Amino acid sequence: MSTDRHDTPPCAELHVHVEGTLEPDLIYALAERNAVALPYRDIDDLRRRYEFEDLSSFLDLYYANMAVLQTADDFADLATAYFARAAAGGVRHVDLFFDPQAHLVRGVALATVVEGLGRAIDEAAERFDLTVGLIACFLRDRSPEEALAVLRDLLSMDAGIIGVGLDSAERGNPPALFEEVFALAAANGLRRVAHAGEEGPAAYVAEALDVLGIERVDHGIRSIEDPRLLARLAAEGVALTVCPLSNVRLRAVATMADHPLPQLIAAGVRVTVNSDDPAYFGGYVDDNYRALADVFGWGPAELAALARHSATASFASPEGRQRLLDEIDEWERRAVGV
Ligand code: HPA
Ligand code: ZN
Repeated sequence: MSTDRHDTPPCAELHVHVEGTLEPDLIYALAERNAVALPYRDIDDLRRRYEFEDLSSFLDLYYANMAVLQTADDFADLATAYFARAAAGGVRHVDLFFDPQAHLVRGVALATVVEGLGRAIDEAAERFDLTVGLIACFLRDRSPEEALAVLRDLLSMDAGIIGVGLDSAERGNPPALFEEVFALAAANGLRRVAHAGEEGPAAYVAEALDVLGIERVDHGIRSIEDPRLLARLAAEGVALTVCPLSNVRLRAVATMADHPLPQLIAAGVRVTVNSDDPAYFGGYVDDNYRALADVFGWGPAELAALARHSATASFASPEGRQRLLDEIDEWERRAVGV
């Protein structure tokens, strides 16, 4: 089996933005294909810009680089490159985020985006032994009315999404603004997640659970500041999709050694490990597991426990979740045995 020699476990990835997997090489290749003029001297000049002060300084580059994504083929190539890299790192299922509004505002039609992503997703099972659920995220720094209109369009075009999320600049854009959007999503049988407690306060985590009815919290690390919230997350078994390398690169935490992930685990919270925007933050999901193992001295048992949470908290089918749990057991047995 291809996973036998992996130093990190097979897992599901529950928090990755497909646009955040756009590597510099692909940015340059697509710019050439689409005759898009990039505002950088060369690829090294672009790479030098991957130093971020905070979430919004990252988002500026993230949105700017999307200019090269124009056709359905571009979206298919983007997603396929991510699936190949993720599968090589042991990912067996992905709940994949995309940002419809970030493309609509550039004049790229929703149908173009979902056609390209859908094509890559359809091929992923055969090519990479990977299942994928597609989640449309709404940009919380744009209006709830716009989000509602986009959701209605997604529903009427049968875009193949399994859920909705909420991302972009968090501070000052509380979850409750999007109550109606998430209610419509729920009424249409969609799964619901939201970024909360990344840069925003712990109160946004509770608000997203209470008002939006979310099933998982994306990031959620600032929950560590509120003991009552921590107790609630643990009691209700709410999963957090934590992205350690992202948190360091966006300075949500000072260093990896300062990351609250061990305390979240100690508090009984169901923590999962994810990459967020791997092309921007220095690593894919396996790199995140490896960074945690290095800094906290974790071995196969701790990594397998995190991977099991990724399986059980994923939106994969019951059979897919069980298959992954079996693979994780097998990985742990071999990892401990060597
Ligand atoms: N936070 C909020 N919005 C985002 C992120 C993130 O980490 N990545 C892409 N959009
Ligand atoms: Zn994110």
